[in-house]
Parts: sequence; C-alpha cells; structure tokens
Amino acid sequence: MDGLNVDYTTKIPNNVNLGSDRQVLKALEGWHPGYLDWWNDMGPEGFQESLVYLRTAVSVDPKGWAKFDYVKMPEYRWGILLAPQEEGRNVNFGEHLGEPAWQEVPGEYRAMLRRLVVIQGDTEPASVEQQRHLGKTAPSLYDMRNLFQVNVEEGRHLWAMVYLLQKYFGRDGREEADDLLRRRSGDADAPRMLGAFNEATPDWLSFFMFTFFTDRDGKMQLESLAQSGFDPLSRTCRFMLTEEAHHMFVGETGVGRTLQRTCEAMTAAGVEDPYDKDRVRSLGVIDLPTIQKKMNLHFTLSLDLFGSEVSTNAANFYNSGLKGRFQETKIDDDHRLTSATYPVSKLIDGEVKLVDEPALTALNMRLRDDYVADCAKGVERWNKIIEKSGVKFRLELPHVAFHRHIGEFRDVKVSPEGEAIGEAEWEKGKDQWLPSKEDGDFIEALMKPETEPAKFAGWIAPPKVGIDNKPGDFEYVKIAA
Ligand SMILES: [Fe+2]
Ligand SMILES: [Fe+2]
Repeated sequence: MDGLNVDYTTKIPNNVNLGSDRQVLKALEGWHPGYLDWWNDMGPEGFQESLVYLRTAVSVDPKGWAKFDYVKMPEYRWGILLAPQEEGRNVNFGEHLGEPAWQEVPGEYRAMLRRLVVIQGDTEPASVEQQRHLGKTAPSLYDMRNLFQVNVEEGRHLWAMVYLLQKYFGRDGREEADDLLRRRSGDADAPRMLGAFNEATPDWLSFFMFTFFTDRDGKMQLESLAQSGFDPLSRTCRFMLTEEAHHMFVGETGVGRTLQRTCEAMTAAGVEDPYDKDRVRSLGVIDLPTIQKKMNLHFTLSLDLFGSEVSTNAANFYNSGLKGRFQETKIDDDHRLTSATYPVSKLIDGEVKLVDEPALTALNMRLRDDYVADCAKGVERWNKIIEKSGVKFRLELPHVAFHRHIGEFRDVKVSPEGEAIGEAEWEKGKDQWLPSKEDGDFIEALMKPETEPAKFAGWIAPPKVGIDNKPGDFEYVKIAA
C-alpha cells in the first residue's frame, strides 16, 4: 500500500510501492543514469563534490517530513513522493463534477493530460540550468545552501513528473521523459518550452526575484493541478507544494534582506534620497530603484507564464476536470462555469479596460489575478521593511499590461502605470523601468563570494534564523577543495 513514510530500500526512494511495480521501477532505473549525467552537466557548477546541509523527505506527513544532513548533491536521494490518497475523492469541477476521481488516465483526455505533465515537468530542470553558475558568487554559505536545496528539489520535481509519464503514459510517456533531459534552458536548437525558463539568472538578486515571482507561478500552476480529477497528478502536486513553499521563502527573505541592508547602509551614511544612485551605490549596496527594476522584469516575465488571458485550452482543461482553479473547492459557485463571466483586461482604443468574457475561457486570467494578489502581499511585506528603516520609498508592482510578450498586450508598449505609450516614449523610459546594462554590470561587480561561516557579502543582511535552527556560524556547505 501507499503510505506516509518513504521506502529507502529501493534504489529510488518512494512511497508508491515501487518495489512491487516492477515495470515502472525498471523504466525509472533506465532513466536514472541519464538524469545523473544531466545533473553533473547542468547542475550546480563547481560544487558537486561539496558536502551540503540538505533536507531530504522521509515522510509526506506535513508534521516532520524532513531530515537534515550533509550530502554530496549527486548522491541526493531523489525519489517519488505523493501525498496520501484521500478516500472517496471526486472530480470537483467541470463536466465530470461529482464522479469519482480517476486513478488511471481517461483515454479521451490522454493527450491533453500528457501535455500538462510535460509542460510542468519542463520547467523543473530548466530552473536548475538557469541557476547553475550562482554557487560561485553566493553571498554566504547559508545562501549557497538554500540555492542548492532549491536545485535538488527542482530535480525531484522533475522525477515527480517523469514518474507520472512513465507509469501512466506508456511508450510516449517514456519518450517525453527522455526529452525532458534533452532540452536545455536558452539553447538555440532545443530550448525549454516556456519563455521565462530560457532567460538568464545572472546574479543573486535575479535568483531571489526568480524564486519569489517565477516559483510563485509554479505554485499557482501546482495549486490548480492539485485540484485535478486525475488523482495521481493531484497527489503529486500536493506534495510538491510543500517543497515549493521553501523556494518562495528563499526569494522573499532574499529580497527582504537585500532591502534591509540597503536601507541600513543609507541610514548609517545619512543618505536620504533613494534616487541618489551614485551615493547609494558607493556604499556597496543595491539602490532601491534598481531593485524595483529587477522586480518589474521578473514580475512581467512570470505573468507571461499564465498564457493568453482568453484561452480555449484553459477552458478544455477545466471542462475535462484536469486543471482547476486556485482553491477550487473553497470557491462558492457551480464549479461548471457554463454561464458565468469573468472580467478580462484588454486594450480598447488605447486604454486598458475590463471586459466580461465567458468565465471558462478566462481561466488563465483568473489564475493570473490570484497570482498578482499573492505577489502584492509579499511586496507589502517588503515595503514594511523599508518603512521600518525610515527610508522614504515604496516598491510597486507594475501594471499587468507593462512589458508583456504573451497575450492581450504583447504588441503594445505600456508604461508601468498602465498607460499605452508610443515607441519613442518607451525607448526614453525603458532604462528607468527595466534593468539596464549598466545596472547589470553594477550588480555583477557586487557579487563577490563569501564562503566563511557566519559572514555575509556587504549587500545583504544576515537572516533572522538559521536553517534547521542552526546557529549563525554553522557551516552549511563544506566546500571541497
Ligand atoms: Fe518545482
Ligand atoms: Fe520551485
């Protein structure tokens, strides 16, 4: 039987009774060497021999699922972990509302379901590839360890999707699983499937923004897949969400500590004007307007991940019971949406306006709205840090029409305030709204590694508490010479 505890006696740790599922175990064992090759080629560069204080799942029980220990990353026990099966779970939305949840893939939805799993799966190794150079410039061992934790867990998320492909989709599932190891982030011939996962993550502020904004898109996608009527997908995503929470913690606290350090340095030096870039930067910290620009970039790249505001695919996924809404079961409506409408933002006569669309085709828009609301709460927590320091500055999420490449606003230039503008105005403003080459160079110059326990690079404040309650001087990574 499936259980809470993870079986570590098989080569592939799992709580899905792989030991007696010979065919799938064989398929996974066949895939494993290719995965390790991929990890060694594309995983954290320069640290594969180092001992990293990582957590490994020993149970899927929310109270106490993790064990911490020093591990060499290539020896991390990646495994297959699903949240426990819920007795009597039903399909909770769409045409099949009220029918028992599926334990096998419904034949008519096979292609659609495989596509959903592959798209989710493709993002997981992509972020590892994007972040592979960052270890070398880590601002502390604490941060380095967090980066590597995120990396091994994204690796595990790939395993999670590969398990579904190999167990439920036969031969084409196995081919898709191989292709997930073949594509590469940013590769001209075989890029990753989604835009934001082909962008560079050149520095640590980008990494923190990525884990705040792009991993949060991951959270929203996983939340809606966790609603799936295909029960194995739902159970997989539910456990992935517990890991995802840590990634967003890394992002939120990383940016928060950067803000805190900047404000502290400004206050100590008596700099009152946050826009006095030269003086702020001369203190060895990142000026707040540049942090705003980084935020604008990562927020808008992540908005693109939600796809077109109006989408028949989204409607089909919902109707078929494969992908629900954020917190579907907590929403008080008919869960079929056949006659409901939802306001979608569109550009009409040069102005951004809300237009009612059928709720079914507007599901991407709705999920994106939920995402924006979730982001906004985090930004307010950042603003509290700035406010407390006494510095007069506020971070603001830009308008959703700003700097878009997908959907309703892809062909128009819109200011961060949401005003449609011409090409000339865009050119004039863009370096104030998005990181310029010069901003990038400045941040890059700050990225000096700090590898002594208890020490932190000058641009970032130490965390309030350690991982696993470790003291401030704990050696989170024992770097191999
Ligand atoms: Fe992930
Ligand atoms: Fe993540």
